[in-house]
Amino acid sequence: MLLELIYLLASLSFIVGLKMLSHPETARNGNRIAAIWMGLAIVGTLFLPSASGGEAPSLFKLSLILGTIGLGLIAGWQAAVKVKMTAMPELVSLFNGMGGACAALIGLVEYPHYVGEPLSLAAIAAGLLIGGVSFSGSVVAWAKLNGKLPKPIALPYYNIVNTLILLGSVVLAVLLALAPEAQFLWLYALLIASFAYGILFVLPIGGADMPVVISLLNSFTGVAAAFGGLLYGNMVMLTGGVLVGSAGTLLTVVMCKAMNRPLSGVLFGSFGGSATGNAAEVGGSIKEISLSDTAVLLNYSQKVVVVPGYGLAVAQAQHVCHEIEKALSEQGVEVRYGIHPVAGRMPGHMNVLLAEADVAYDKLVEMEEINPMFPQVDVVLVIGANDVVNPAAHDDPSSPIYGMPILEVEEAKHVIVIKRGMAAGYAGIENSLFFKPKTSMLFGDAKKVLTAIATEIKQMG
Ligand code: TAP
Repeated sequence: MLLELIYLLASLSFIVGLKMLSHPETARNGNRIAAIWMGLAIVGTLFLPSASGGEAPSLFKLSLILGTIGLGLIAGWQAAVKVKMTAMPELVSLFNGMGGACAALIGLVEYPHYVGEPLSLAAIAAGLLIGGVSFSGSVVAWAKLNGKLPKPIALPYYNIVNTLILLGSVVLAVLLALAPEAQFLWLYALLIASFAYGILFVLPIGGADMPVVISLLNSFTGVAAAFGGLLYGNMVMLTGGVLVGSAGTLLTVVMCKAMNRPLSGVLFGSFGGSATGNAAEVGGSIKEISLSDTAVLLNYSQKVVVVPGYGLAVAQAQHVCHEIEKALSEQGVEVRYGIHPVAGRMPGHMNVLLAEADVAYDKLVEMEEINPMFPQVDVVLVIGANDVVNPAAHDDPSSPIYGMPILEVEEAKHVIVIKRGMAAGYAGIENSLFFKPKTSMLFGDAKKVLTAIATEIKQMG
């Protein structure tokens, strides 16, 4: 009874925690609450097993389990504390892969105990297949994100091979569930096929599409864990799995929309990587602007919109950016931030970054809301952003980002772009915005440039 109560409260804490994650002000506590209850559910499972009709583990098993949990805690804690904000997607991908591996291991370990029980075996086979895909796919995604693997890798007959592997795996899973006797060969064949599918699924994906894949793999892990919950009749595992699965799926759909990629393209074909096209050559001359002219222009504007991107995160310039915003606001300038859903390298990257610098949440305006405002804006300050303001998404059908919604900054009266040089962004394509008559370039590291601008603005005040 006590264990059931703990499971119920833990399940509720996941729902409340998830809800709290949707706002930067409550996100940390939401994470804490869910983590604490998850911890209590684990402790309850280990020390109150008889409450749910289970057997208490022997002292030897208990010390093995606790020792492994301890090792995992130390490794996970270290990784999470040390990770740079810009490397967060890699870490998320790796953590997610571990979840997939756990689900697949459950299948391997439990299989012999359920032979002859088709429904339980179906849950085992599904958990093994989905968990295996999630594990190998996440490891490949991790290697691609941290540059250990090139992105994308073209594979011949990619679609046919992958579809065949998937179909073969499903057939194997069905056979395994129906077999009256243990078939270990099929079991290991299914595991290998799931690894192969995960690898082949992620390898060809490139360009700006990795976040969608990571989110999709995340939802796979949730579904795999939910099958584990079904198998054990464990409510907290089931709820956790279903929540991760559905949240991951929703995020995938939202990101697909933000990047204008059909979900079918994610499931049944390489996307992003193949969309190379012959992006139109971009050329012309650029116009540079000095630090003091930028400060003057900002200071004498009525409305300024800051568009943060990946470069702002790399330069760790969020604090000085907030300083500029405060200094301008004191002069009566209305400053807002235009947030593109995939600016940076992970969902919500810019929101988290700016919240860390204490930027008021109501100053952050989502893309759909800010786009109609640009014609009334005097200056847009694009800081380390590139793809998310690239007009090729609107006017170049051969561009890999064609169709992706962008922040329509060129509608404003002036655009100032702060970046170190003329290098491309994540999608690896040129940006015609930099050559437009309204655009001025201010070259340099975002933090250094913004610090100098902040000093000038304060002197003017
Ligand atoms: P990007 O297109 O990647 O452009 C970032 C720009 O920042 C670069 O062009 C770079 O130019 C500049 N930069 C780098 N370091 C800098 C520094 N220290 N100071 C000043 N500038 C610096 O960024 P974005 O506009 O934010 O777009 C995000 C891209 O990543 C999209 O293609 C998106 O699809 C993809 N992506 C997004 C996510 C999510 S979910 N947010 C995840 C993975 C990938 P220089 O080198 O010339 O300075």
